[in-house]
Amino acid sequence: MEIITRADAESVGAYAASIIADVVTRADGRATLGLATGSSPLPTYAALAALVRAGDLDLARCQAFALDEYVGLPAGHPQSYREVIRRTVVEPLGMDPDLVHVPDGAAANPAAAAAAYDRTIAEAGGIDVQILGIGSNGHIAFNEPTSSMTSRTRVKTLTARTRRDNARYFDSPDDVPVHCITQGLGTIGESRRALLVATGANKATAVAAMIEGPLSAMCPASVLQLHPHATVVIDDEAAGQLAGIEHYRDIQLRRPEWQPR
Ligand code: F6R
Repeated sequence: MEIITRADAESVGAYAASIIADVVTRADGRATLGLATGSSPLPTYAALAALVRAGDLDLARCQAFALDEYVGLPAGHPQSYREVIRRTVVEPLGMDPDLVHVPDGAAANPAAAAAAYDRTIAEAGGIDVQILGIGSNGHIAFNEPTSSMTSRTRVKTLTARTRRDNARYFDSPDDVPVHCITQGLGTIGESRRALLVATGANKATAVAAMIEGPLSAMCPASVLQLHPHATVVIDDEAAGQLAGIEHYRDIQLRRPEWQPR
């Protein structure tokens, strides 16, 4: 696992965006991106949007797959992840809406929709770079503690803590859906590159458990310890509980110039 620290959320976003831009450029503009929602990747999306506006990056031929979606919100609900992805990613980054996929949380049979979504990712050739945030309880996507490390895209029940964390987006905490469709930890593990961004002191405990804790279903993000190419980009506050922070900073400074990003 590669650990990159930056002073603040904006610099985290700029660094993460530079990795994504690099992946897209190497794929001749046809990369497949994995998209997270939530507040963590917003500075990354803003930095990507700036590159697109400046004419330095073109994402119009990239495919994308969202990590997750609430079950049961009516189509067009402003907090459905389909809508959030449209507002925060597809439009500002100039992506083709037909190439951007989100699990169907309004499906009559959400379990079947989840399995179909997993197959669609595989049929598209998998994900080149998967953007991730981390929950304060260590979840990635909506794989809550105790999720199987080999899980596929499926229906899950959100914990009370995640529903509380996400209540800020809804009129009332009771409006936060109880169920979701989420890519599984096994699905995420198959991405060719995992790129997790985290900022703020409220993520420090989860970040330390992910990087330095045991591989444990109680911290689902710790599955990234098994990923062949995981990069974690965090600000100083989110790095606040890492015992080995001096060592990670030293490695960062001594990175050989020839080493690809
Ligand atoms: C969202 C997702 C979640 C969030 C996590 C952190 O698609 O998969 O795992 O990344 O809950 O959320 P924020 O970034 O809002 O703190």
